[in-house]
Amino acid sequence: MSGLRKLNMMDFTTLIPVREKKIESSPEEKLPELNAYKANRLAAALHPKSQKLIVSDVQILNDSAKLFTLCPDKEAGTEQLAYFSAGQYLCFTLKIGSVYTTRPYTICSSPKDALNGKYQILVKKVSDGFVSEYILNNWEKGTKVVSSGPLGNFTYEPLRDAKTVIGIAGGSGISVFYSLAKAVKEGTEDFSLTILYGSKTEKDILLKNELEELASGCEKIKIVHVLSDEKKDEFENGFIGADLIKKYAGTDSYSVFVCGPKAMYDFLEKEIPALNIRRKFVRFELSGVSKHAKDYKTFPCEKEGTYKLTVICAGKTVTAECSSEYTLLSALERNGIPAPARCRSGICGWCRSRLLSGEVFIPEESDGRRLADAQFGYIHPCATFPLGDITLEIPPVN
Ligand code: FES
Repeated sequence: MSGLRKLNMMDFTTLIPVREKKIESSPEEKLPELNAYKANRLAAALHPKSQKLIVSDVQILNDSAKLFTLCPDKEAGTEQLAYFSAGQYLCFTLKIGSVYTTRPYTICSSPKDALNGKYQILVKKVSDGFVSEYILNNWEKGTKVVSSGPLGNFTYEPLRDAKTVIGIAGGSGISVFYSLAKAVKEGTEDFSLTILYGSKTEKDILLKNELEELASGCEKIKIVHVLSDEKKDEFENGFIGADLIKKYAGTDSYSVFVCGPKAMYDFLEKEIPALNIRRKFVRFELSGVSKHAKDYKTFPCEKEGTYKLTVICAGKTVTAECSSEYTLLSALERNGIPAPARCRSGICGWCRSRLLSGEVFIPEESDGRRLADAQFGYIHPCATFPLGDITLEIPPVN
């Protein structure tokens, strides 16, 4: 505000006539289309609003996981894939029955693969996961899909991160480290990566051979498998904690990147202080808000119930039901109300909506709102659970 007070408001009264004269004296012919400019074409190629893709290969990894290879759908208008930084994700738009929904999946191939017209994503069946099951059962060679451009910032940043990274993965969280390891091996990233990969048993390890192949002959990459439910000589046993991290770090100066299920995050949060490293060196990938409100210890169970949801969007009002058990984004989607969403973890702000009335529960760990948004009644429906009748104003979906 102090900067504004110093402005001479009279400057604005002279500015308008000057601009009007310029507009009057401008040539008659139409300006070129925006994509006539090289810079705009480059920006659109790097940050496309959406990408039309085709499934070009499906590899079955085990009973509950598949690796999908995707290439550009040139017929539908996507000539080339957007380049990305290892660690980013794509958000897929899906219509399943009458439900429109989105799902973020980490790109597990390398940035160089994108230049060669290929993305890969790993999809693992989530227990009672409606979308993962749909993709595993329905996507096959030739299936056409729509994704966003690459998103997210779980990437290596030399100015912030240490030269040695300990990557802690659980389940399909290995995707992000597979991409980072490939980028290290191909020389597009420059750091040492030790992956501590937690699985229940040996048969649950995903991409085992591929990871070993990456590590062989590359001294910057090391893979350590940790089994929680099985004891075998060639594997570490138990849960990944401070002792194991220190054992494999090999230096006092390292970053810790974590990508896995919520239970792993809860366990590691208690272990991190014992590492004695600065908090800026510890990064958790957005893990997705837990589907059930009761998974959060702070959820007020006495407010459990089914409530009325009134939604205002582009001047229209619709009403539906919502349950305190699920997020408001889930309620919108289950009721066939299209709502914008990308990360589905409360972080990116894409679903930002205005809460006009009603009480809600927002778990602290997934409250990624700006301070001003929180003060002026904005919420992220993907990370908000209703605790009473709700009136919500949502932005329209393009
Ligand atoms: S979709 Fe990213 S904050 Fe809701």
